[in-house]
Amino acid sequence: MTDQFGREINYLRISITDRCNLRCFYCMPQQPEHLCHADILSYEEIVRIARLAASLGITKIRITGGEPLVRKDCAELIAMLKRISGIQTVALTTNGTLLEQALPELCKAGLDAVNISIDTMQEAVWHRITGYDKSMPNWLDLLHQCICNGLNTKVNAVLLKETRTEWTALAALAERLSVDVRFIEQMPIGQGKSSETENAQAVLQELRKQCPDLHPIQICDAGSPARYYAGTGLKGRIGLITPISHQFCSRCNRIRLTSTGQLKPCLSYGCSTDLRTLLRSGASDEALLSAMRDCIYQKPEQHCFAAKTDKAERQTMNRIGG
Ligand code: 5AD
Ligand code: SF4
Repeated sequence: MTDQFGREINYLRISITDRCNLRCFYCMPQQPEHLCHADILSYEEIVRIARLAASLGITKIRITGGEPLVRKDCAELIAMLKRISGIQTVALTTNGTLLEQALPELCKAGLDAVNISIDTMQEAVWHRITGYDKSMPNWLDLLHQCICNGLNTKVNAVLLKETRTEWTALAALAERLSVDVRFIEQMPIGQGKSSETENAQAVLQELRKQCPDLHPIQICDAGSPARYYAGTGLKGRIGLITPISHQFCSRCNRIRLTSTGQLKPCLSYGCSTDLRTLLRSGASDEALLSAMRDCIYQKPEQHCFAAKTDKAERQTMNRIGG
């Protein structure tokens, strides 16, 4: 369906857990207060919402967290979502640490695409960013396996001052493999408020030193927040996601369902529609649909990252799902 500003909303992001095995400083509090099991939607509840969302025109679903693969039987949820009529694509955003072992069941479930968060190629830096003591995955190997399994594979790198020297090394992943490497300006949400982002335009300037013909291209995915660039010798593309330096709200096509069943029309605002209470008080499909329609229709025109407003989102990113 379209919202009050005429935007076609066809993409639903579903956070299935606030938990994560990593503690990326820009995302998770170091000692998070976790939600308890009863707070978060069951897979059956999620599937019911997804089915209703499909009837409103949602065609693409992305599973996020926290880290979605820490929740048991994530692949079963994916299989259930893939069976919903009208859902064309189910994608997953993951930190990659648990992906290799989960790949066979995820692919069997019908997963279409995966975005892996790779902020750094250097193990010591990765340990500092994530606070994790186990070894860093071999990113090239992991990406290669995803591609071989037929997954549409992308890399997400948040622009941090800690990784300023690594833009070329991260972009080189798109030289080695057919993956899109997307640089994301850090958004001032939750923990992300306490450090400044690097500007994505600076990334482009830096990359053009190695690849002077890096040029903007049109892509089919009209709702994608990324602006994409192609260059000679690149199998994949370079993407810039620039909520801070260059807004893309006028093309936004997405809504979010948090793990506690709040339907959020915009990442940056705290406002949401409490679907969990409706679900658990025996609401009919019609009542749920009406609440969802209102929420979508009233999606704000643009984000409020730059504004001083008491309506801004106060939750941390691991509770929203990015
Ligand atoms: N700004 C931008 N991206 C963020 N992520 C987490 N916190 C932020 C933030 N403040 C990213 C993660 C992951 C995705 C789910 O969201 O790195 O790629
Ligand atoms: Fe976990 Fe991703 Fe947040 Fe890092 S950014 S703490 S991997 S959810």
